[in-house]
Formats: sequence, C-alpha cells, structure tokens
Amino acid sequence: MIPDKAPKDDVFHGAEEIRSGAHVPTFEKYKEMYMQSVQDPDKFWGDMAKEFFWKTKHNGRFLDYNFDVTKGDIFIKCMEGASTNVCYNVLDRNVHDRKLGDKVAFFWEGNEPGDELTVTYRELLNSVCRFANVLKSQGVKKGDRVAIYMPMVVELVVAMLACARIGAVHSIVFAGFSAESLCERIVDSQCSLLITADGFYRGDKLINLKLLADEAVQKCRDKGFSLETCIVLKHLSKEAPETSLSSPPAKRPCPDLQETETGRVRKTHPVPQVPWNPKVDKCWHTLMCEVSDECEPEWCASEDPLFILYTSGSTGKPKGVLHTISGYMIYTAATFKLVFDHRPDDIYWCTADIGWITGHSYITYGPLANGATSVLFEGLPTYPDVSRMWQIVDKYHVSKFYTAPTAIRLLMKYGSEPVHKYKRDSLKVLGTVGEPINPEAWQWYFTVVGDSRCPIVDTFWQTETGGHVMTPLPAATPMKPGSATFPFFGVVPAILNESGEELEGTSEGYLVFKQPWPGVMRTVYGNHGRFESTYFKKFPGYYVTGDGCRRDEDGYYWITGRIDDMLNVSGHLLSTAEVESALVGHEAVAEAAVVGRPHPVKGESLYCFVTLCDGVIFNRTLEAQLKKQVREKIGAIATPDFIQDAPALPKTRSGKIMRRVLRKIASGERDLGDISTLADSSVVEQLFQNRCCSAV
Ligand code: WTA
Repeated sequence: MIPDKAPKDDVFHGAEEIRSGAHVPTFEKYKEMYMQSVQDPDKFWGDMAKEFFWKTKHNGRFLDYNFDVTKGDIFIKCMEGASTNVCYNVLDRNVHDRKLGDKVAFFWEGNEPGDELTVTYRELLNSVCRFANVLKSQGVKKGDRVAIYMPMVVELVVAMLACARIGAVHSIVFAGFSAESLCERIVDSQCSLLITADGFYRGDKLINLKLLADEAVQKCRDKGFSLETCIVLKHLSKEAPETSLSSPPAKRPCPDLQETETGRVRKTHPVPQVPWNPKVDKCWHTLMCEVSDECEPEWCASEDPLFILYTSGSTGKPKGVLHTISGYMIYTAATFKLVFDHRPDDIYWCTADIGWITGHSYITYGPLANGATSVLFEGLPTYPDVSRMWQIVDKYHVSKFYTAPTAIRLLMKYGSEPVHKYKRDSLKVLGTVGEPINPEAWQWYFTVVGDSRCPIVDTFWQTETGGHVMTPLPAATPMKPGSATFPFFGVVPAILNESGEELEGTSEGYLVFKQPWPGVMRTVYGNHGRFESTYFKKFPGYYVTGDGCRRDEDGYYWITGRIDDMLNVSGHLLSTAEVESALVGHEAVAEAAVVGRPHPVKGESLYCFVTLCDGVIFNRTLEAQLKKQVREKIGAIATPDFIQDAPALPKTRSGKIMRRVLRKIASGERDLGDISTLADSSVVEQLFQNRCCSAV
C-alpha cells in the first residue's frame, strides 16, 4: 500500500502560521534537541521532570536499564528513589498551582447529538477524590488491581484517576470485548473489583454492558476466582436498577456532575432493565453520595505500577502490558505537548476509545498533564450521519484532531461533500495512529479535511511503547504521506536484517529500538519471562517492535506493518492464534488457519480457513455459528469476514501451515512464489477454486 519511493516534490509542510510560537519550530531545532536527548538522556528527561511535583527526589541515574538478555534480566527503571502521584500531577496541580480549576477538562459529547456534559478541572478533581474514597470504602488498597469495563463517559476517566490517586492499578478492558475476554483479563491480573455501567448505545445499537459484566463475573466464579464487588454506573438511566431491583438502593441527591446530568436520560431510545445482585452490585451514584470529596493522594514510588492494559500476543493469550508511574507520566506529557504542539487555548479531540492505549495516553494522561481541554466522544463517526465528526469539530472549535486511518478511509468513501458542509477553520494539526496510512487516505485527510493547511502527525507507537516513538513534529518535520518520519526524543531506532545486523542507509527489515525512553513498558504482568522472550530474545540488545520498516534515501522511516502472526483490523491488533483457537473451540472444527486479506476500509479483514471434522457439512448455518463463536470468545472486532471450507490446509513436509500461501489464496493472487516445500501442492488449487470472493 505504501509506495516504494516518495518523489522529492511529495514533501509537505504545514502552513507558516503553525511555526510561530511552536515548541519545536524548525527541523534544525528538532535535530539539535534530538541529539541532546540521546547523548544525555538523564539531562533531557530530567529537565522535563521539573514540570511535575515530586514528593521526594530521585537519587542516581534518571534512566537505568538492561536491554541485553545475554547480560542478565531485562529491566528499565526511571527516577529511582523519587515518589509522586500521577493524579495529583494531572489534577490538583492544575487546579491549585496553575489556577486552572475553572478550565474545561472535557466536553463530553454523547452518542446522541444534544447529549452533552461539560466538566472543569475542579469538578473532575472533586469527582475523582470522591470516587477514590468510594474505592477505599470497598476495601481497595495500594497495589490492588481494579478492572474497568465502561463506555466512553467522564466517569471512566474518574475511575482510572481514582485508582491512580490511591495507588491501585487499573486494568481497563475495552467495552467492545466479550464476557469471556473480560473474564480472562480479570483472572489474569487477579482484580479485586470491577467497575462497569448499565449499558450504552453505539449509534442505534444498544450494548447491554451489565449483562456481559455479569456473565464475566459468573465465568470467573466457574474458574474458582471470586470477584466480590461490582460498581455499576447508571449511564443510560439513573432509574434503571431501581425499577428492576429486588432490593433497591436508596435514592439520594448526588452533588457531583449532577446539575449537568439531565442530558443523560435517553429520550429517543429504550432504556434496558438491568439485573441486579445486591450481594455484588453497588450503585455508583449511591456510593458517591456517601463519601467526602477530600482524599489525600497516596505517594507512590516511581516504579510502582500505574496500569495494566492487555494487548494481543502471538501465542493467542493476551499479554498484560504493565506501565509504571513516573516514566509513563513524563513521556505521555512530553509527547502530547510536542507532537500536537499543545497551546493553552487548544481544543483537542482524540477519537480513540479509552479502552485502548491511545485513549489512556492521549485522552487521559497526556492531555490532563498539560492542562488541556479535550472533547470526549461516546459515539460513532457515522451516526446519525457521516458529517458527525466535522459537526463536532465546528461545535467545539477543535484545533487538534487525532484519529485512525480506518476512520479516514471510511469517511473518504462518502466524498468531500459531508466534510465541506462544515467550516473546520479551527483545525490546526491533524494526527493519525493505529496502522500505516495509505497515501490516498493521507492526501484526502490533508486536502479535504485540513484544507491543505494542517500538518499531519502520523504517529507510530504501540501499547508497549506507552507513547509516540516515531512521529513528525507539526511545525518542524517536512512530511511524506505514509511515513511516520523520524524518532521522537530519546528514541533510537535501528533496522535489522534476519541475522540481527544493523542496516545503514536505504534499507528494509525489522524495526527495533536500541535504548529505552521513560514510557516503555516494564514487564508483562505476572510473566517477566514472556516479556523478555517476546521483545528481547530475537535480537539481544534491542527492543523488537514486531513491525517491518523501510528507510528511504532521505532517512525517513516507513512502517510496513506487522511481521509476526498479528493482524491489524481497523487499527486493532488481533492475533491469528487467538482467532484460530476460538474457531477450533467449536465442535465441528478440526483445524483452522487465519490470515489477513487487504480491505479498503479496515486495512485488513479476517479470512479464516477451517477444516471440519469428519462427516460435518459446511453450510451457512455453520458459518454463522462460527462467526458467533469468535464474537463471543473475543469480541465483535474479531468477527471473521470470510470463512472458507478447507478440506485440507497447505502444509510443509514437517507439518507447518504455509500462511504465506494462504494469504495469497485469500487475496486471489496466483503468483505463489516457491512452493516446493509443500507436502501436497494439489491442496492449493482446490482452495483457489473454493475461495470466498465477497464477505457474506
Ligand atoms: C501499528 C496503537 C504504522 C503497528 C498505538 C504497531 C502503526 C501496532 C502506526 C500497535 C502508524 C500503530 N503507522 N503502523 N502510525 N501506529 N501502528 O498496541 O503495527 O494497539 O505495532 O498501539 O499498530 O498497536 P497497539
């Protein structure tokens, strides 16, 4: 998808006005700062750390690490000896020291136009303190893990920051994941409490979140893990639980967020009745009314855990990526400030869900650390119509806008007319994340959405990296459509060949990093061995991203996509092994192999080959059952687009499935390359004949 070579005249610059007053105004300045950041990282990051409050100072090196498995355990430590609190830094400091109490932290925009809420920094701090006290009242202590399974509402931010305030570790599970996935994550990190909501609407579709949460709690119990408490936010209707309860919680006025809460009640959609188990379920609002809004932050050590976030692993079992306090806080704050060139009067909008790392770093922590005003959007880009994004941009005068290539490609299909209905003249910087952006989508974003004025920051990073690692800076970096350009400060990339040699100049190979930056993950929760073997074993001395990368003659980096068994569907990473094991979990399936097939909007779609057990006939009913099976095991994002009956799979003589061949069959490419190692090459022709042409 990405062109091999960008012609010289394909280099773009943002409008001149972006440069005046920019934090990093020129490419020369970027290069100078970059050199300082890699030559003396302790000084560079030490200066950044001065922006924050430290209860005690660090002693020794700013960053200490070992990236080489042959020299001992892998570790990364930032600011050892220092103590602080993230919540204090992103809220109290803004309210008290920077006098930003009345500044808007979030403009919440609901799924339904007109459903909205404005929350200032002071209101957010009050709610967070209150909810921190709620967590304490439920027995949550420093170091305990708390699972959060919520829609995109302000209370999700409140819940995560309340955890951070008391030193508890949040583990947010995207609300699009299934009950099974939620259960797996709760058990893996041994969470003591779950926070969820009654439900929410995505467009016209009602998601009964509480039913899924209940199912997950039951599944945990079946596995011998008992979760004692579930706090339920009545988001769809404050009345919902009371009307359907055997023992209703007392109704009391809620001081927080209440005056603006009238918009919360859905008028156009039915409100579901949610089941309520008084032994486990506790009402968010009721608990909030029982506690004070004063809560002293828990002072934590720099390397204490802040959160766990699961990401797909190539073996199928998700990995609990662990981030710790100080390094993550400094890194997300610095990247947010410099990559979006944040200014105090900006209105920033990141369309990601907080259930993914983009939402953690660039809706909650990075923007709040900078005292930014953000839009927090619950809905979809196409609801109630395909102009919604631009309508919101005009409504709030959004100046910095951050979204995913899949959303851009989706909206591109409808042409420029829905975009041009709105002015968008407030926009200054556009950003993208999640997958390589194809140059056509880049051009459309640049010319149609940004009226050729706004630079595009194509930010490459991962759940594991905590924040942006390869990215343009809006005023400084000349852009090439589809290239994530150059490393962020402190990040030292290299491209390796198969034998682990560093390639110089124009080259293509494995993208790796040679030294840590403060925000890099510290471990896989509960499994340090898996952390070492996944990221550090293949090439000792380097952090291995799992992505391929090309460097062009101008030194620009171009991410070429995953080179492991991972798929990127609409910017979400899925492991083929995870989908395969969901399929094989069905009694009719003997074997399954899943590959990606290029998709014009999603980037990749899921193409599944299934070999059925003897005597089972492939038909539409079975196909529907298999799709349901995957949806229920993983979540709607993993629903297969194609399922093909494969009487046999192409295997080498040693029995290894040749996925390369399956990928070609899925996309209908006849040029198979060398298939001499196949045990039985007639299988291939058979599969070509039965291939699925369009998604059903
Ligand atoms: C891909 C998302 C190209 C990449 C923040 C990476 C990208 C994976 C880009 C991480 C980009 C993300 N250009 N590829 N700008 N951004 N990726 O953990 O394959 O959900 O390894 O983190 O997304 O996905 P994750």
